[in-house]
Amino acid sequence: MKHLLLLAALALAPSLARANQPDSVWLMAYCANPTAGLHLAYSGNGHEFTTIGQNHAFVKSDFGSWGGGKRMFDPHVARLADGTWAAVWAVGEKVNQFAVATSTNLADWMPQDYPYVQGVGSCLAPTVSHNGKQFAVAFTNENGQRLETLSPDFYHFAAPQPSQNAAVRTERVVDGTKRQGTVVRVEWPLVKQLLAHTQAAQLRSQRYDELAKDNETRFAGLDEVKVDVHIDGNHTKPITDKLIGIFFEDINYAADGGLYAEMVQNRDFEYAPSDRLGDKRWNATHSWRLDGNGMAMHIATNQPLHANNPHHAVLAVSNPADAALENAGFDGFAVRAGEQYDLSLFSRHLDGQRGKLRISLVADGRTLATTTVGAPGKTWRQAKATLRPSHTAPNAVLRIEPTAIGTFALDMVSLFPRDTYKGHGLRRDLCETLEALNPKFMRFPGGCAAHGDGIHNIYNWKETIGQPWERKPARNIWGYHQTRGLGYMEYFQLCEDMGMEPLPVVAAGVPCQNSSDRGHGQQGGIPMNEMPAYVQDVLDLIEWANGDPRTTEWGRRRAQQGHPAPFNLKYVGIGNEDLISKTFEERYLMIIKAVEERYPEIVVCGTVGPWCEGSDYERGWQLAKQHNIDMVDEHYYQTPGWFIHNQNYYDHYDRNASQVYLGEYACHVPGRHNNIETALCEAMHICGLERNGDIVHMSSYAPLLAKDNHTQWRPDMIYFSNTDVRPTVGYHAQRMCGQSQGTTYIDSRLAPHTRHDGVRQRLAVSTVRDDASGRTWIKLVNLLPRPVEANLSLEAMGIDAPRKARLTLLTGAHDDTQATPTESEIEVAAQFRHTLPPYSFSLVEL
Ligand code: AHR
Repeated sequence: MKHLLLLAALALAPSLARANQPDSVWLMAYCANPTAGLHLAYSGNGHEFTTIGQNHAFVKSDFGSWGGGKRMFDPHVARLADGTWAAVWAVGEKVNQFAVATSTNLADWMPQDYPYVQGVGSCLAPTVSHNGKQFAVAFTNENGQRLETLSPDFYHFAAPQPSQNAAVRTERVVDGTKRQGTVVRVEWPLVKQLLAHTQAAQLRSQRYDELAKDNETRFAGLDEVKVDVHIDGNHTKPITDKLIGIFFEDINYAADGGLYAEMVQNRDFEYAPSDRLGDKRWNATHSWRLDGNGMAMHIATNQPLHANNPHHAVLAVSNPADAALENAGFDGFAVRAGEQYDLSLFSRHLDGQRGKLRISLVADGRTLATTTVGAPGKTWRQAKATLRPSHTAPNAVLRIEPTAIGTFALDMVSLFPRDTYKGHGLRRDLCETLEALNPKFMRFPGGCAAHGDGIHNIYNWKETIGQPWERKPARNIWGYHQTRGLGYMEYFQLCEDMGMEPLPVVAAGVPCQNSSDRGHGQQGGIPMNEMPAYVQDVLDLIEWANGDPRTTEWGRRRAQQGHPAPFNLKYVGIGNEDLISKTFEERYLMIIKAVEERYPEIVVCGTVGPWCEGSDYERGWQLAKQHNIDMVDEHYYQTPGWFIHNQNYYDHYDRNASQVYLGEYACHVPGRHNNIETALCEAMHICGLERNGDIVHMSSYAPLLAKDNHTQWRPDMIYFSNTDVRPTVGYHAQRMCGQSQGTTYIDSRLAPHTRHDGVRQRLAVSTVRDDASGRTWIKLVNLLPRPVEANLSLEAMGIDAPRKARLTLLTGAHDDTQATPTESEIEVAAQFRHTLPPYSFSLVEL
């Protein structure tokens, strides 16, 4: 496909067909603005330049936090003696790092690295050269001095020395605008290749921008579509039995305020401005408020309930008749009449006064339930009670009223509905919605939330087990507080309760490349001298999940927390769509090697970067092949056009290389909502995943959950509030596919009668059989604006006489966001006709 596009681009480019071409031209490297990336322009006279590909970024800086945080200043590109290219650029004004990258052709670049330079405050206007033995990068420091650092490998750099190498930037006119950059003489065929490369990229992006809203014009001449569908039971292959699972990330309040049924917000008084980029309103009193003048509150940290939970409230009561502390919950406490809510809190008195505490649920001035708990003790004492509201209310508050004068400390105030999924503390309605997907595995605790916002925020599973007050709360990369109430025990328990294989993912020794933490992204990684301890944490996780409580320390700790039986962990994910830098590589391979050596039975799932192409993807796959990594995790969020034109994405994958886990994907349309168009693109993609189920082992849509008004990412699969759960159209498509997972793929082919451009790409079929139950499903997707008459031939499926089959149909206008599937009975036969409505996903169970 790539080659076809390239040929097409070459054919379309009359300027390239000229016979009279120069031997060589001038090539300028520059950057139009700090977020634009590296641009290239060429010139015959060395003064007036023409840009290669309008606004085409040949490489973009990956240093720093998301979006505008990633900046490139003053790029310098130099050709080395072996013909390859090296680039350096500054990444910020006051950063003691610069960026390095290499390329063989200026179009495809290897992953970037960002070496640290000791003893300087800035590395500005860098230039690179190579003397046959080592690289020299010269730069200007914060005092305007030119320094130079040497490296044998473009990764390890020596201490800087004074340099004579000037900052060679020149001004030239590019398409009429003056630009600063660096200029070299290159052979014309190189520029010709670059022109072809950008033209092919433009053509591709036009295709990938195709949207259903333009289909009436695109298919104006198309009246009737007929297609032959041949399903051949004589040609089958075994496929994975774990194709569809879920990816749970604590994003969009999916954990606290979401799946984790705790109703008290900031129960631990541990909220801190650092949870939310220094927002001062986000502090230890968040969600708490005093009502009345009879009590004062301050936050203390002395004699804490647990060292991991130092903050608690100190309440000095002067007039109990006018004193209450209220918690607002996560957008209120949604309670139902007659149901039981379990209360727990810790308190201790500080002055010998021993009044009790009255706890109530109150809505609109009405007390729905009330109880009194015993007086605070001298040391921290847990009190428990049950509240049973008299009325249903969507937004009650929890009110704590002292009954006597005195001073007491309060911490870990908790209220849980008694009715949770399988009694394990997770919201039943949300869990049942997930269960209906029939997920075969769950990846957790996140993508970016797992590798974290800087090395100090890398998710540490050990901090998430034990009693709730022993766990260490943490800042979430998505800008809120994680109590870790939903911790590793709860994740594993959920997997057990729902029959899913657990797939915990640990950071590969580097944090998220988009980290905002001091603006430095992943680049430092965990210091190498601390890596052995980090690797041990990963090994301990496997021991915690699977170890014998009698013979292993971590197995004992699991048993201590109430789960003596092993969880039978089979998979471990290492890394999350990381930049495949050298910093990453050395840590990643170290962890993988240790897991493989200690636990050869565990399937290791590596990563191949954040995208389905480009430098990280290429290098990630190279590593996977070189090191025989069992499986790799691919991620891509793509447009409808991409899905339409990449139905065959996995058809050409190497059958002898690592298995694929498509860990994060979703179809995104402008406005980022979830509708029939996106759902059908995803269903179509699943048809391709099934067809390649011999190498694609698992897949999961992302993200999974999003709470109303607390959403950092759209679209998501399921939206919810405290009182309702709203599955999207995409959920319905996933559910239809999840409920029809097979273990054998049956060869299925489509042959449209028309050759109208774009028709074939908008139709998909897949047939699978579950060998255990004998159930067989045919999936048919029609992303055309016209009905499609499908002539199905099932002769080779052993169907000789007409019989009834069940049809589940998801259809609607392409922008329909509310469609739900309908069920009906149809008659199938060896040969039969079935009409696929415009924009539809039909699931036929034979
Ligand atoms: O799914 C949302 C985010 O997308 C994940 O955290 C990350 O892995 C990806 O960038």
